[in-house]
Amino acid sequence: MKPLQCLVLANLVCASSTAFLPHSLLAYFGLSGSNIARFIREINHPYIKFHQYDIESLSDPTEALCNPDSQFRASLPEFPDHLFKRLSVDNNKVSQGRRGWTNAREVLSDILSCKAALDGVEEFEVDIFLHRGEDEWFGEAPTPYDDVLDLFVRFFANAPRLSNLTWVQPSTDGAAAATFEKYFLERNVELPALAEASLGPNMHFLLPGAPHLRKLTSYSKSYGWSTYSMRSLSQQADGPQMSFVRSTSKLKRLEEFGLHATWTPELVAELQQSAGQLVELDMDGDVDGRWTGENLGAMARELNKFKNLRQLGLPHVVHLGFDSGEWPDCGNAYFGASGRVLRRQEEISYISSTEKAAGIIAPLMPNLEKLCIGGECTETTPGKELKWPWTGRLREYMLEEWPRYDGKSGERVTVGYRESEDPQGPVLESWEEDRKWFGGSDGHEEL
Ligand SMILES: *[C@@H]1O[C@H](CO)[C@@H](O)[C@H](O)[C@H]1NC(C)=O
Repeated sequence: MKPLQCLVLANLVCASSTAFLPHSLLAYFGLSGSNIARFIREINHPYIKFHQYDIESLSDPTEALCNPDSQFRASLPEFPDHLFKRLSVDNNKVSQGRRGWTNAREVLSDILSCKAALDGVEEFEVDIFLHRGEDEWFGEAPTPYDDVLDLFVRFFANAPRLSNLTWVQPSTDGAAAATFEKYFLERNVELPALAEASLGPNMHFLLPGAPHLRKLTSYSKSYGWSTYSMRSLSQQADGPQMSFVRSTSKLKRLEEFGLHATWTPELVAELQQSAGQLVELDMDGDVDGRWTGENLGAMARELNKFKNLRQLGLPHVVHLGFDSGEWPDCGNAYFGASGRVLRRQEEISYISSTEKAAGIIAPLMPNLEKLCIGGECTETTPGKELKWPWTGRLREYMLEEWPRYDGKSGERVTVGYRESEDPQGPVLESWEEDRKWFGGSDGHEEL
């Protein structure tokens, strides 16, 4: 009996006549009552949402959506141009609860049989989460099966407009990435239209096939760089960051580069060798001890060897060895009115350090046009003062960032933490501190 039950369910689904099955049952099997392919529903395009009923009423919605010449299209409201611009293989956000490789197999198969999707896709995101574990039902294979690899290869070979790829590494151990690498290299996968890519660790094997790449980033997201012991690995000649940087050497059009790493002199030297033409560089993560604090100038002199560099992003001052960070780790100290004051006091210390760091860097990099530290940016023009979001309005800025505590905010209520902040009181810890940072009026003179 059991196999027969399965057969009945499968038939019903294939025949798209699932409407009479209880929704909860369908949901249990990971199905849904809609006869629109899941990858299309997950695009979240307003056209699909708005006209879902009309589309579902067609005898063959897939034909209507996927075949540009379909006669069914005539019965639908005017078809949008960029319906399939952005597609994803993602069981991490969109389709939670689905197994990684199974989801990839289903989504890619559906995309591959949808011509309009292949013709239209410009942005593609892959985020595969593997449910690991010993359990027979929940544990997934650490590496993809050949049929899944083949679906990926066929997708890339048939998506001519693909210009923007986001692909974080599936799982921490690198085994899956290594399997993709081997399979892709053997089949010479090329991404000729790719202009922008955001890749996870070990995914840079894709780059030799993408000679027109203009922007490449790799930050710590999902299974990102933070899972590696960065400090030691960044320095190793064969470490993952170093290999990632080295892989840019074939990318003659690369202008923008961002990476999460411990930025060592060796890593920057490698980047100069491989991508000396960079216009924008975002150094995410932290900076090696040889270049922090008062040695920041040495780093700026090295970075100035990128002749075309106009925009530079640096880590937060704490990671530049510029703020002692004598702040509470977290927790109760930040609750309530006094917590708010403490946060402002911290912020103002960061601001002061940010200005100090920039004061060292900007004069040593006269060709730079924009400098960002910890996400705050200023334009840099030789001979002109740097203008930060808080310049000339430090007090207002501080109150925008950390408004007066009203005793009702969502912070955890504990006895003694509910008092409101005195709207007439000092913004910082004391009037003396206020005078020191804000001067007489609104400007600040003493940074
Ligand atoms: C490329 O995709 C990323 C991730 O979806 C997005 O943030 C970025 O804006 C896209 N770039 C362009 C040029 O559309």
